[in-house]
Amino acid sequence: MGKVVLHQVKKQFGAVSVIKGVDLQIEDGEFCVFVGPSGCGKSTLLRMIAGLEDISAGELTIAGRDMTNVDPAERGVAMVFQSYALYPHMTVAENIGFGLKMTGHAKDEIARRTAAAAEMLQLKPLLERKPSQLSGGQRQRVAIGRAIVRQPDVFLFDEPLSNLDASLRVQMRTEISKLHQDLKSTMIYVTHDQVEAMTMADKIVVLQAGLIEQVGSPLELYHRPKNIFVAGFIGSPKMNFLPVIAAPAEGGIRVKLPGGASLLLAGDASQLKAEEKLTLGIRPEHLDRSSGDAVLQGTVRLAEHLGSETLFYVTLDGGAEIAVKADGLASARPGDVLTIHLPAAACHLFNAAGKAILNGDLTR
Ligand SMILES: Nc1ncnc2c1ncn2[C@@H]1O[C@H](COP(=O)(O)OP(=O)(O)OP(=O)(O)O)[C@@H](O)[C@H]1O
Ligand SMILES: [Mg+2]
Repeated sequence: MGKVVLHQVKKQFGAVSVIKGVDLQIEDGEFCVFVGPSGCGKSTLLRMIAGLEDISAGELTIAGRDMTNVDPAERGVAMVFQSYALYPHMTVAENIGFGLKMTGHAKDEIARRTAAAAEMLQLKPLLERKPSQLSGGQRQRVAIGRAIVRQPDVFLFDEPLSNLDASLRVQMRTEISKLHQDLKSTMIYVTHDQVEAMTMADKIVVLQAGLIEQVGSPLELYHRPKNIFVAGFIGSPKMNFLPVIAAPAEGGIRVKLPGGASLLLAGDASQLKAEEKLTLGIRPEHLDRSSGDAVLQGTVRLAEHLGSETLFYVTLDGGAEIAVKADGLASARPGDVLTIHLPAAACHLFNAAGKAILNGDLTR
């Protein structure tokens, strides 16, 4: 059905290389999310799958069929955009059914599919309204309805929720996840939003500058980032990075932290030079425990009280800046000195090239 395979796919816009050789397999029924910084090529890649952009080099198959010369309408895909692009003069029902009308479907078939989509998306009471009489969330639901009635093997979403306010995003996010459970179609979803990526995806693809940095489940990427880019990109607030000096030691790798404290990390030191400069990564939520394997000290610069938790931005003795996630009742204020405990099992190490040489394992 909706298995999508890309092999060494590339895209050039004139002299500019935007997608530089992507290999990716998206399984039938999988929910795959593309994330990455602005301009990295997420929309371009999605549009190439949709057939809205040519592929400069490489191969794309959908459901086993080579897509090189296949029209967008014949690919078994339907795309939902950030801008809903509804026809203002048509009712909700007409907007949803319009694509089917154009492809010559019978009236009663269009009515049947429109009713089923409206039921699924809670649009039934709104079918006779015009788009201008709808809220943003309702409009985006109509746009999704328009995709559903085409019964595609693959749904493509390009930041469909980014025009909506925060609470509506949360609601629509769960609705799209439910839709995926009901329809069991392949879905490819582009987003900037960390939480959307983590909560919706079976598989996340992290892109940077036209190349894949890592592919994996949300928790794989969170706990075992392959490089410093993925480590810093997945997770909010982002992982803290500290410059350290590392050396092989009995039982693992000994690192010297800024400020002078030292910490033994369990890991393979066989590739390590003596006195090698590395970057230690530690997530904000793994700090501020009452116990740990090394102690850092710093001054609180800013405290953000979010209710359920508190974020402290701390300048360490030695100059490095870190974020610490503490519980909602933590009461330190700017100017206070904070003692921070660092658990060895939660630490990651990256070499000078940014490659992870050690991923912490909290289950150890
Ligand atoms: N038609 C075009 N001609 C030339 N360059 C283009 C064209 N379309 C996109 N680009 C360039 O390709 C790169 C990737 O664009 P793309 O829209 O895929 O990024 P994106 O990851 O979706 O970014 P965003 O998160 O901002 O939507 C950008 O540098 C962009 O300027
Ligand atoms: Mg884009």
